[in-house]
Order: sequence, then C-alpha cells, then structure tokens
Amino acid sequence: MIENDIFLRVLRGEATERPPVWLMRQAGRILPQYRAVRESLSGFVELVKSPELVSEVTIQPVDELGVDAAILFSDILVIPEAMGLPYELIEQKGPYFPRTLKNIEDVIALDSGKIAADRLSYVYEAIKITKKNLANRVPLIGFAGAPFTLLCYMVEGKGSKTFSQAKKFLYTQPEAAHLLLDKITEATIAYLHNKIEAGVDAVQIFDSWAGSLDHETYNTFCIPYLQRISDALMPKVPVILFCKGAWFSLKELHGIGSSALGIDWNTEPHFVRSITGPSKVLQGNLDPCVLYADHSFIRKTTIEMIQSFGGHHIVNLGHGVYPDTPLDGVKAFVETIKTYRY
Ligand code: CP3
Repeated sequence: MIENDIFLRVLRGEATERPPVWLMRQAGRILPQYRAVRESLSGFVELVKSPELVSEVTIQPVDELGVDAAILFSDILVIPEAMGLPYELIEQKGPYFPRTLKNIEDVIALDSGKIAADRLSYVYEAIKITKKNLANRVPLIGFAGAPFTLLCYMVEGKGSKTFSQAKKFLYTQPEAAHLLLDKITEATIAYLHNKIEAGVDAVQIFDSWAGSLDHETYNTFCIPYLQRISDALMPKVPVILFCKGAWFSLKELHGIGSSALGIDWNTEPHFVRSITGPSKVLQGNLDPCVLYADHSFIRKTTIEMIQSFGGHHIVNLGHGVYPDTPLDGVKAFVETIKTYRY
C-alpha cells in the first residue's frame, strides 16, 4: 500500500479532500541537491544512465518539496537512442542529435518494439531502486515522449521555435512519417510495459510540441498513435496525456479515454470543461512564471486556478518548472495546495 496515494485516487476518479500536486521537471535544476549531483558528473546523459543517482535525484523533490508523486528522472530522448539515433545534451543549448532522419531509408534502418525497449535496462534498474528507496511514501510516475514530439527531435536534430523541418517531413514525406510514428509507438509501448513491470504506478505521455500543428494534421499524425499507446497501457496503470498547446484537438484527446489530460496555461479550464464535462480528470495548468512572483500572488493565483477546475484535478504547472525559479516560490505553491480543502 502507498501511504500517500491521493494522486492515484484522483486518477481513479475518486473525490478527495484537496487536489494532489506535483511539478513537471521537479527533478532538476531548481534543487541545489540536483545541481550538486549533476556537477559531480561529466554530463546529463551519464546521470540518466546511472540508476543509483537517478533514484537519488528522483526522490529529492519528494523530500524537499513534499509533492504527492515522484517522477522518474530520465529523458524522453532515450527512446530515439534505443532505436539507433543517439543524442547529446549541450550545456545552455539543449538536446542535439549528431545524425538526423532524412528519408524513408533512414526510418527503415531504425530498430523498434522490444528490441529497442530492452536496450534501456538502466531505466528499469533505476525504477526498481527508486521504488525500494521511496518505500511506498508516494507513487512513482514513468513517462515517455509522444511519437510526434520524438519525431520532431529525430528529424530536426535539436530544439526549434517552429519545428519547420519536422513539419516539412510530415507534409512532404507522409509515408515515411507514418512509418516513423508507427515504429516510435511500438518502441514506446514496449518501453512503458517494461517500466510498469519494473514498478511505475502511472505514466505520462509528453507531446510537448503538439501546439505547432493544426487540428487536421494533429488528427492524422498524432491522435491514432496516442490512442494505441493509451489502449495498450490503460488496462495496467493510469495514463496521463499532456499535449501542450493542443486545445484544438481536446475533443479527440478526450475521446481517447485516458485517465487524465494535462493542459497548459493558454488553455482555459472552463473551455476544457465545456468539452470534457465535469468528471474528466484534468492536470495543470499554472504558468510556471507565476512562481517568480511574491508568495501572496502565488497563493491567490493557485487558489483561483484550483477553483476554476472544480474538482477532478491534479495540480501542476502548464509546462516544466524553469531552472531559475526560486525554491521558496515553489514551496509556497506546494504548501498552498496541501493546506487547501475543497
Ligand atoms: O519532470 C521531471 O522532473 C523528470 C525529468 C524530465 C527531464 N526531461 C529531465 C531533464 C522529464 C519528464 C523530461 C522530459 C522531456 N525532455 C521533455 C518533455 C517535457 C517538456 O519539457 O516538454 C522534452 C521536450 C525533453 C527534451 C529535453 N531534455 C530538453 C528540451 C532539454 C533541455 C532543457 C533544459 O532546460 O536545458 C533536456 C534536458 C533535461 N531533461 C534536463 C533535465 C533536468 C536539463 C539537463 C541538465 O541538468 O542540465
């Protein structure tokens, strides 16, 4: 039994005395403890591949912030690497792929399914150690990138404001794009099955660049793959879909039938409720920049947000917490939710 299971109870559709809270990117540079571990290593990828240290940085925010769930420290880019496309993380710049995908031959050459997923034993090892060290205090979330967001990095090779090369790939080589999305989907399902086997209690799919597409393109290149992932995992654990900026496809996302939908701060809770109804579990959606403000503003904005969701809600930010966010601002946010009562 998990001692604090409020996060899982909300995902099961139960009514709770307050909403649970966790933050995207809570395991990371906002914590001095994380920065200390990170500085002792040559790079980010080395940390991701060190199960004992992954366990340590995963649990740091549970100890320091008192959040209601841990999220396994890792990265969405481990899947492209397992499929045959290695990544690096360049300081101050972000992810970089020395090789990118140009055509269908490149896609055909990639591995998929269990063959790719079974290469990520360091992740499964980290989950087992983390579950043991967490000692059932809070649930552990596992995650993966959505097929489209991974395609963005595999084609573009790095972050981008527009992901125009990735979108060009969809529009000019749709057959190759669908084959790639299919292969990523199969690798992701096998990967998440392995993660569940190793002990994660819920999974979140990050479609971080969903908002770069339009409704029709999202329906064609994203929804069917998210549906497959959700259908494959939902019988085992709750699934949260976080498709940032995809307000235009909320009806289809709701139709997938996942346990919860994550929303960003550009998407109004009332607008989402008008599509999903009152009982769909929603996660979000405070603007991470609110946490730079003074504590009374953080408290007021957080309470207004909770009230605008009207229950069946997991509190989070609308995207990852920024690394230079003051730690006491994050603590004021978490404290506000933990002392709130519906
Ligand atoms: O949420 C958590 O606390 C768990 C850890 C986590 C990381 N990456 C650690 C990380 C999670 C869930 C991710 C997912 C991820 N990675 C996404 C989807 C979520 C989102 O933010 O949209 C994406 C798009 C990536 C790709 C990626 N990895 C980027 C764009 C970057 C650079 C970002 C930056 O702030 O520098 C990374 C590196 C990365 N992943 C860091 C962390 C803590 C920073 C690395 C460092 O320590 O220097």
